[in-house]
Amino acid sequence: MTTESLAPDAVKARQRAGWSSQAREFYARRALIERQWGVLSEGLLELARITTGDRVLDLACGVGDPALAAADRVGPTGSVIATDLSPDMLAFAAQRAAAGCLGNVEVHEMDAEAIDLPDASVDAVLCRLGLMFLPELDAALGGVHRVLVPGGRFAAAIPWRPEGQAMPRLIGATLDALGLAPMPPPAPGRPGIFSLADASFVCAALERAGLVDVRVQPYTLAHDYRSPDEWLDFLMALNVPLRERLAAASGERVREFRTAAVAATAPWVREDGHIRFAGHGYYAAAARPVR
Ligand SMILES: C[S@@+](CC[C@H](N)C(=O)[O-])C[C@H]1O[C@@H](n2cnc3c(N)ncnc32)[C@H](O)[C@@H]1O
Repeated sequence: MTTESLAPDAVKARQRAGWSSQAREFYARRALIERQWGVLSEGLLELARITTGDRVLDLACGVGDPALAAADRVGPTGSVIATDLSPDMLAFAAQRAAAGCLGNVEVHEMDAEAIDLPDASVDAVLCRLGLMFLPELDAALGGVHRVLVPGGRFAAAIPWRPEGQAMPRLIGATLDALGLAPMPPPAPGRPGIFSLADASFVCAALERAGLVDVRVQPYTLAHDYRSPDEWLDFLMALNVPLRERLAAASGERVREFRTAAVAATAPWVREDGHIRFAGHGYYAAAARPVR
């Protein structure tokens, strides 16, 4: 069954279950994930002009990013509310906050489309690689507008242009080699990594929510994996639909998948055995009007 045919509540139940089932793997690979995505946290903090004493809301924080980077930036006079739909992801975020002695982080299970905070209660809202999993973006952005103080800032990081990205080409080549159907094409409202690849759709939604100073800024990530297997581990930890598809496959079929995936990486393998390719996306930033 694809998410295409599901109502928003069913999409979210499925998102919660999918991400919860792989929270442990996500957490276990956090160093690898931060090697690829850490730069996005810095970008979001800069764009949202996070500074000492700010109150920050992080939507869809997973195991704690960029919430923990924000907590470090705002210091003990500020605060961060780290939120996610998946309690399992959040448990790891809480664990990391405690391990880092970040007493200014609160963790709340929360649907980004139903932000459960008072009006005008935060200075900034951040979302790293989460908006594209929401079935009703307008509901989320309406909530962002409501909870921001006048002049408060919003910044999100979102993948774009699937046709130019190495990752979907790798996955496509692998599925093709096994005679499996390609992943469904991305579209707004049908949650998936590239569902918001059209930045103009997000800009229009930000404006509909009443936010101003809407800006889009492209980013390029340097994906670097020590080996094809390390890339595959990253992929399997993050790609819920792919995992779901392989869950029903026999052990033999999964081994075939791994072999085909490693073969598909050949064009990107460097002399040192690393796989390197670029990942592309954009930051979308906006603000609540001052009055
Ligand atoms: C790719 S992970 C990103 C996690 C984190 N922001 C990061 O960059 O590492 C996507 C996250 O979105 C969360 N998510 C999906 N739908 C959500 C919703 N409706 N509300 C809140 N979080 C949601 C998932 O549980 C998952 O933790």
